[in-house]
Amino acid sequence: MATAPERQTVSENLSPATAMSVTLDVNGQPRTLTIAPWTTLLDALRERLDLTGTKKGCDHGQCGACTVLVNGRRVNSCLTLAIMIDGAKVTTIEGLAANGTLHPLQQAFIDHDAFQCGYCTPGQICSAAGLIAEGRAKTPDEIRELMSGNICRCGAYPNIVAAIQQAMGVRS
Ligand code: FES
Ligand code: FES
Repeated sequence: MATAPERQTVSENLSPATAMSVTLDVNGQPRTLTIAPWTTLLDALRERLDLTGTKKGCDHGQCGACTVLVNGRRVNSCLTLAIMIDGAKVTTIEGLAANGTLHPLQQAFIDHDAFQCGYCTPGQICSAAGLIAEGRAKTPDEIRELMSGNICRCGAYPNIVAAIQQAMGVRS
């Protein structure tokens, strides 16, 4: 019988007046944090839970490097306050592989050499996972349009689109 994941509690020194408790399911593990109400999901993940795969680029909702999945939908974690999503299921790049097997998007990004420095890649892959779940993109142009919130300073866009097409089972 499968055992329930161990609940982990992370606290920081906050005055009782500002401390708030938030519980999130992060990559299948319940995590309870005591945080300031202005803590973004991005900072909660990176600074409190040591999940540094999610990147901070602009911190203003303009680059997509911080994209994660919240209840299966892609969001910019830099624009999401952790307290806004109390109880939500959060999936980060660290949670996409299953049982030691890469997620099809992770494998496709490797197959198509869809990165150079790799800084945008976790956000690109999480965003692409959300895109595929949305089911709206059918063509390369639609992939480009619906991935336009994820910037790649290295300009790996053609490879990124090819990788997403592979994961979608769509040929160009
Ligand atoms: S860091 Fe969130 S959109 Fe750039
Ligand atoms: S691979 Fe460098 S920013 Fe995209």
